Amino acid sequence: MAGEHNKGEQPGELDVLLETEQTFPPPPEFAAQANANDPAIYEQAAADPEGWWASWAERLEWIAPYEQVLDWSDPPFAKWFVGGRLNASANCLDRHLAAGLGDRVAIHWEAEDADDPETGEEREGGRRAVTYAELSEMTNRAAGALRGLGIGKGDVVGIYLPMLPETVAAMLACARIGAVHNVVFGGFAAASVAERMEFSGAVCLITADATLRRGQPVPMKAAVDEVAAEMPTVESILVVDRCGTDPPMTPGRDHSWSDLCAAADPDCEAEPMDSEDPLFILYTSGSTGKPKGILHTTGGYLTGVTATHRLIFDLHDETDVYWCGADVGWITGHSYIVYGPLANGATSVMYEGAPNYPAEDRWWSIIERYGVTIFYTAPTAIRACMKWGREHPEKHDLSSLRLLGSVGEPINPRAWLWYHEVIGGGRCPIVDTWWQTETGAIMITPLPGLTTTKPGSATIPFPGVEAKILDDEGKEIEQGAGTLVLTRPWPSMARTLYREDERFVETYWDRYGRETYLVGDAARRDEDGFFWIVGRIDDVINVSGHRLSTMEVESTLVSNPQVAEAAVIGVPDEMTGQAIVAFVIPEGQAPPEPEALAAELRDYVATKIGKLARPKRIVVCDDLPKTRSGKIMRRLLRDIAAGEHLGDVTTLRDPDVVRDVESRFRQQA
Ligand code: WT7
Repeated sequence: MAGEHNKGEQPGELDVLLETEQTFPPPPEFAAQANANDPAIYEQAAADPEGWWASWAERLEWIAPYEQVLDWSDPPFAKWFVGGRLNASANCLDRHLAAGLGDRVAIHWEAEDADDPETGEEREGGRRAVTYAELSEMTNRAAGALRGLGIGKGDVVGIYLPMLPETVAAMLACARIGAVHNVVFGGFAAASVAERMEFSGAVCLITADATLRRGQPVPMKAAVDEVAAEMPTVESILVVDRCGTDPPMTPGRDHSWSDLCAAADPDCEAEPMDSEDPLFILYTSGSTGKPKGILHTTGGYLTGVTATHRLIFDLHDETDVYWCGADVGWITGHSYIVYGPLANGATSVMYEGAPNYPAEDRWWSIIERYGVTIFYTAPTAIRACMKWGREHPEKHDLSSLRLLGSVGEPINPRAWLWYHEVIGGGRCPIVDTWWQTETGAIMITPLPGLTTTKPGSATIPFPGVEAKILDDEGKEIEQGAGTLVLTRPWPSMARTLYREDERFVETYWDRYGRETYLVGDAARRDEDGFFWIVGRIDDVINVSGHRLSTMEVESTLVSNPQVAEAAVIGVPDEMTGQAIVAFVIPEGQAPPEPEALAAELRDYVATKIGKLARPKRIVVCDDLPKTRSGKIMRRLLRDIAAGEHLGDVTTLRDPDVVRDVESRFRQQA
């Protein structure tokens, strides 16, 4: 592999070879300095999981101590650190100031347009080194501003912002006053924001005038205005000025973030929160059309992200420069850009924009500039970088890197090896971290100083976590494939689905009983007990590490008057892991130009949900394969899309339909 320069490197034989043979023990120099260097922690944590987690909770600052580590008397509704009181923002900020770390940089923020793309000249304010003291002041002022608007403990506050230090301050400001933040990824369409504000009964929404995309401002506030009527509970909208676009403001409802913060007091007392008080809601896709509001609480969540961030990323807070390339709008951003790193006193990099703007070496230039030591990203991004070619990273000095991470989907061994060789210079361990919005923190992962890794496997559960593979009857499969479950409560576990306790139980805790968490992934366990994620067991698809529900895309498609019926499937895609393919039956007469309708509908989905949900292909058909009872057979659609031999079609109402759909799939390519 070394020396091979192959643009658009294809998966192939090497993947298979690696998957079965090559392993990577921790380099001895790395192991010698690692935070986790004693393999006995696995047995110790397994023997006394509550003691293990409590040892991490003790590192936090509690306003009142807890009386009980875990109350699991009413599964699946866990209570961790019962009776304890603390504040998440005080743990991320005040604690470090008190320890004399106020001058430490919390966030090296880099704007997408930090340098003028034409002249190469540095723009003012394009690079900000925000210290813990500064982040604390921003947070305190924002918290005071929110309190001034009458917002307090238990109120839900929406956050729809680009990647800015203000976004972190907004989240921490909510935590400071006990408000529950509900962050919506900035790439989602305003209609998705409105839906999530309505479901959560949010009283306030913090957004920006616009977000920069590839150097161009894309309006956010104006888009929010268009859907304001659909979120009647939102009484105030705060607008961060990112691009100076000066959007219209509705008096009484809309406020300038900077004006309110400037007028607010620089000290805002942190609300003492119960360990089990909600910290945030984060909506994610499920197998139905309605997103699920995952609810995380305070003490357990903070304990989970603190422990995992310190051990898995081997954080040495005095010396490391840590960079998680995710967006704050996803759980990865919540846990490993905001709460984990800040609770651990880390110095992080936060980059606002696209990895290939203005050129394909942008990420590598950032690593070189700040001397990044730990880098965490998604396989889909690694594959994009592979395609752009190794000449881009090779232009930069990446020797500061000592650890690499991957998250969001299985990483194919070829991408793993490229990451290891080209980015990590062959010296950096890779942590392939498996987890979910619901788990709050990483669950299956190597510990970089202890675990011998196998490319493509997330390896073994984090200490204190117990994972199993079950068959349909609930019997454990020690070696082989089946349904992945977690069989022991953990502190950062979701507590419920916001306002939907029953759905929480039905979705995750019904299949194998109230004490067994159904993950939704299928997995295989090998002869060494290593876990390999192989796919989903429901109608959820994973596009570029983003979770999407086929039902959500289907219901959006049929909400368009030109569509009578729709079926959406995920198909394997070399770059994005999976891609969305939709089959639609048009309303009324078949259109003369199916391609034009398909293009229109693709854009429609992008405006309704967000670009990330835009189907790669839409095939217009007269009918869809259905069972006699009228159920659409998505399995056959998947076979068609994969170009596979069609299986049993005898249960179909009309077998000719399949052949017709198949020929249209080919014609409309
Ligand atoms: C789903 C969770 C949690 C981070 C971002 C996604 C898939 C996540 C891995 C991995 C294989 C992975 C699973 C999981 N997934 N990480 N390392 N290897 N699959 O969060 O949107 O809640 O999605 O992403 O299918 O269930 P999410």
